[in-house]
Amino acid sequence: MPDKAFIPSAYTTTIKKGSFEWSAPSNIALVKYWGKKGKQLPANPSISLTLNNCKTITKLAFEKKENDGNFSFDLLFEGQPKESFRPKIEKFFERVEEYLPFLKDYHFTIDTQNTFPHSSGIASSASGMAALAVNLMSLEKELNPAMTEDEFNRKASFLARLGSGSACRSIEGNVVIWGSHDETPHSSNLYGFSFEGFHEVFKNYQDTILLVDKGEKQVSSTIGHDLMHGHPFAHQRFEQAHDNLSKMKEALAKGDLDAFIKITESEALTLHAMMMTSMPYFILMKPNTLEIINRIWKFRAETAIPVCFTLDAGANVHVLYPENVSSKVLEFIKNELVGYCQNSQYICDEIGTGAVRIN
Ligand code: DP6
Repeated sequence: MPDKAFIPSAYTTTIKKGSFEWSAPSNIALVKYWGKKGKQLPANPSISLTLNNCKTITKLAFEKKENDGNFSFDLLFEGQPKESFRPKIEKFFERVEEYLPFLKDYHFTIDTQNTFPHSSGIASSASGMAALAVNLMSLEKELNPAMTEDEFNRKASFLARLGSGSACRSIEGNVVIWGSHDETPHSSNLYGFSFEGFHEVFKNYQDTILLVDKGEKQVSSTIGHDLMHGHPFAHQRFEQAHDNLSKMKEALAKGDLDAFIKITESEALTLHAMMMTSMPYFILMKPNTLEIINRIWKFRAETAIPVCFTLDAGANVHVLYPENVSSKVLEFIKNELVGYCQNSQYICDEIGTGAVRIN
């Protein structure tokens, strides 16, 4: 499906004013997206777990205005004006205008809040852009009521991607694949969609996020992705991601936790290895990140409980495990890992169903 397929033909109805409210979750990649090309297209396919508790709630109010050739919007964060978001939203509107030709016909008020603490080091761009995209799609659906749910979700993911790549994996639930992959029919670089065939051991899969370092990101993801251009290992890395996605799909389908753990941890370390071997180079793990990883490995070796870790582009650790071992793992986390977290902070999350309309 080409980009052009997302340009709407004439709308069938009109609407003057109104509002929508949606929540959209964060997601954690198992096979990582790191490196991009063209208009927010991934250099390799990725797969993620949609989260449930870490989310952005966005209310979009809109009122018809004269189209004077400008975007017009007010921004609120937790009820207070937030001008620092303006350049990002302006850029997003520019990127999606072609696909949402009504944008300059309305004045918008975008009121956003997150369920997770700010400066927790948890990226809010995925949930934030996903929440904005579904709200804008609700408006488009008012203008084109014939749209199906599949069309709605696909275009919401397509738009979210133009805001932040990983955001396209935050529209739908449980497990989402984004990026062209020979062994995944209908896969596309333009949007993410649910991978349905996962084994029941992954139902309610748990993700406890250990907040090791809540400071500002050392490298923005935009700069990070850019470091893959001309990276000495880029080609091999992108090939490996294709291969790991095939293996991950098989592990998810069969409920093969050993394979799941191996691929997930290797992907996390590879992501960081890419950052350590780029020019300029970065170490985004902290000493406590490594302490936690070693403790997880020791605990797993001693108990045979299938708990593993993944990382995103920072020092925090996502601890992943099946629901049926959650009491033992939580006890382990409280006894052995919380001491490595900044202010003993961690967030209990689990796999979730994706964006939800609130009103
Ligand atoms: C390490 O989606 O934040 O979390 O497209 O520039 O907004 P932009 O990047 P972003 O990158 C996420 C990178 C990652 C891995 C992943 O989520 O797949």
